[in-house]
This record gives sequence, C-alpha cells and structure tokens, in this order.
Amino acid sequence: MGRQEGAQVSIIIPTYNEAPNILNMLRSIREHVSRVARVEAIVVDDGSPDGTAGIVREYMRAEGQAEGYSVDIVQRRQKKAGLSSAILHGVRRAAGSVIVVMDSDFSHPPQVIPRMLEALRHQCDIVVASRYMGGGGVVGWPLRRRIASRAATAIARVGLGVEQSDPMSGFFAFRRSVVRGLDLDAIGYKLLLEVLVKARGARIKEIPYTFTDRAAGSSKLGARTVIDYARSVWRLYRGGARRRERRASVRFASKAARFYTVGALGLGVNWLVSMLFAGGGGLWYIHANIAGIAASVATNFVLNKRWTFEDVDFGARRTLSQGARFAAISSLGAAVQLGAVYMLVEHYSMPHAGALVLAVAAASLGNFALNKTLTFRERLWS
Ligand code: GDD
Ligand code: MN
Repeated sequence: MGRQEGAQVSIIIPTYNEAPNILNMLRSIREHVSRVARVEAIVVDDGSPDGTAGIVREYMRAEGQAEGYSVDIVQRRQKKAGLSSAILHGVRRAAGSVIVVMDSDFSHPPQVIPRMLEALRHQCDIVVASRYMGGGGVVGWPLRRRIASRAATAIARVGLGVEQSDPMSGFFAFRRSVVRGLDLDAIGYKLLLEVLVKARGARIKEIPYTFTDRAAGSSKLGARTVIDYARSVWRLYRGGARRRERRASVRFASKAARFYTVGALGLGVNWLVSMLFAGGGGLWYIHANIAGIAASVATNFVLNKRWTFEDVDFGARRTLSQGARFAAISSLGAAVQLGAVYMLVEHYSMPHAGALVLAVAAASLGNFALNKTLTFRERLWS
C-alpha cells in the first residue's frame, strides 16, 4: 500500500477521562496509519477532569506535527455530553475526505485502520469494523456486557432492518460525502447505527477485528446508555427508517402475529367490559357480555387497521365501510367457532377445552385471511 497523497484521512477520537491512554493512542495511530495516508487526528474532549486535554496539547507541542501527520483538539463542551454528539463535533472540524471514528482506550486496534482505508478505496462508502462476523471477536467483557451488546444488536437488526453484523460498532470509517446532508440526531452512543439507517444507497462493507476491553480507566457506558438507545431506536423506527421486508413469508407471519396479539388484547377488553357492566353496572350478564363483545370488536378494528395492516387513512367513509366488514367477519368467525366446537364435541367426542382451542385457532385464522383480503384489500400472501 502506497501513501495516498491528496486523500487526507481524519481520525476522530472522542475522549472522556482518557489520561492513561491518549498519549499511547496518538503514538500508535501515527505509527500504524501515517505510513499509508496523510493523517489528521482530532481529539474531541468533553472537559475531562483528569487532564486529558492538557496531555494532548503537550503532545501537539512536542511531537504532534510531522510530515503527513497532525493532531488537533476540539474542546467545545465543558462537561461530558454524549459520545455521538462529540463525534459529530469532530466530523465538522475534519478536513479529510475520509473519516475514521475510534475509541481512545485501545479497544479498537489502530493496526486495523489501514485495512479499513483499503476497503474504502475499493467501491464502498462505509466500512464497519465488526466484532460479530467470522474472524472477529470480543475479549475481556463480562457475560452481562456480552448479552447486552448482543441484545442491542438484535434489536437493531430485527427492529430497524439493518443488515450489518455489528451496527453497534464504535469503530468505523466513511467517505465524508456520505454524511453530508444527513439530519443526524446523535442521541447517545450509536452514531453508526443512525448513519446505517439514514444513509440510503451507501455501499457498506464490514471487516472483522477483535475488540479488547480497556486495560486502563473505566467504561463511560451506564444506565443512561440504555435509555438513550431506546429513544434513538424508537426515533429511527418512527422515522420510517425500517426497510421494507421483501420476503412475503416474513410479512405474512408478522401481520398474522400482530393480528393474534390484537385478538388476545380483545379478549381482555371483552372480559373487562363484561365484568364492569355486569358487576358495577348491574346489567344482566348476557347484555353485559354483548357490550363486552361490541367494545372488543371496536378496539380490535382500530388496532388491526392502524397496527396490523398499517392503514393510516381514517377518512370517515373508508373507516365506516371497513368497520362494517370487520364486524361482519367477526360475527361470521363467532358462528364458525360455535359450530366447530359443537361438531368436535358432539360428533368427535372431543373434550370441550381442546375443542375450544382448535375452534378459536381455526376461526381466527379465517378471520385474519378474510379481513386481510376483504376488509383491508390486501393480497392474502403478501
Ligand atoms: N467526548 C466524549 N464525550 N467522549 C466520550 C463520551 C462523551 O460523553 N463518552 C465516552 N467517550 C469516549 C471514551 O473516552 C472512549 O474513548 C470512547 O468514547 C468509548 O467509551 P467507552 O466508555 O470506552 O465505551 P465502551 O468501551 O464501554 O463501549 C464500546 O463498545 C460499544 C459497543 O458495544 C464503544 O466502542 C462504543 O462506541 C460501542 O458502541
Ligand atoms: Mn471502551
């Protein structure tokens, strides 16, 4: 690999209380990266009380400016104000056309950076250094932390449709042009996740590396991180960021699951309303039950319309005609269910409990299929 003149690389290094690490990090980056590119290291410090910034300034004076290598520090904020936003401050300051983001505690080995830059040169816009693909790994994390990381990764992959193996990685590189024009919230820790979700059309590659837990200092992740993560996933999800699932089988199963969930909720509504009217309301139990059924059909309809079938058009005519079809199909389902229970018990001598389970399953499957096609005008298998 020859040194790339012209293509300057900016390496963003956020720090909070990294006095034991930062000096060695800057030296290691210089050793491993300035051989292959012109490098600008940008430390973004949030007023670390342990004097991290002072150490960086001293380094800048003593050995920080050399041919093809420079160090800069951004000290915009007086106190710890979040990793993602710190990174964005660095990105704004960066002069390079290529940007690398990494931690300053040696969990992200600088030796990997030349491979990331190499990958960026060949037809891709974002390179993620991944712990969770073949050849990658994590060393030194307690089980609790491993589980939390895997769970967060699974949420991003399933909930937001992200395809990469390690969207939670804090170690990544990208062409500056990728984030230009993106509206980034930068909540919490997960800047990469936000970029992956929002940078549509970007070509993304992953390369494996081994994350080693820090030897000096302590992690800045806390309970706050979990809350921030939930907020940021929710916002990305609401932002329509969820990529549309292409497999019909998955879409069908997901809608059926939602339909059954609504059905179960409806049972609860039915029970609650029946009890309320029969007990406090003093109604005859059959009348109370009718009120319960009506209430649950109404709530089921609204939930299925909005959630299961993702129909946001609540125009009066459309909603009324859909509601009527939904109610008719529900009654049909009830009739089918009664008939099936009767048949199974009388003709096949099944115990009532088992017959009920079968009949409910059959009727709700029928309900689902009919509502999908007739009420909400979707194809059955789509
Ligand atoms: N400026 C600034 N402001 N820097 C911060 C802040 C902040 O609020 N919070 C953390 N940092 C710096 C730390 O000094 C360190 O260099 C880096 O960001 C990562 O923080 P750690 O506290 O070491 O994170 P971790 O090792 O527990 O978590 C790692 O794994 C996560 C994935 O599981 C990091 O790589 C995360 O980025 C990653 O998401
Ligand atoms: Mn760390």
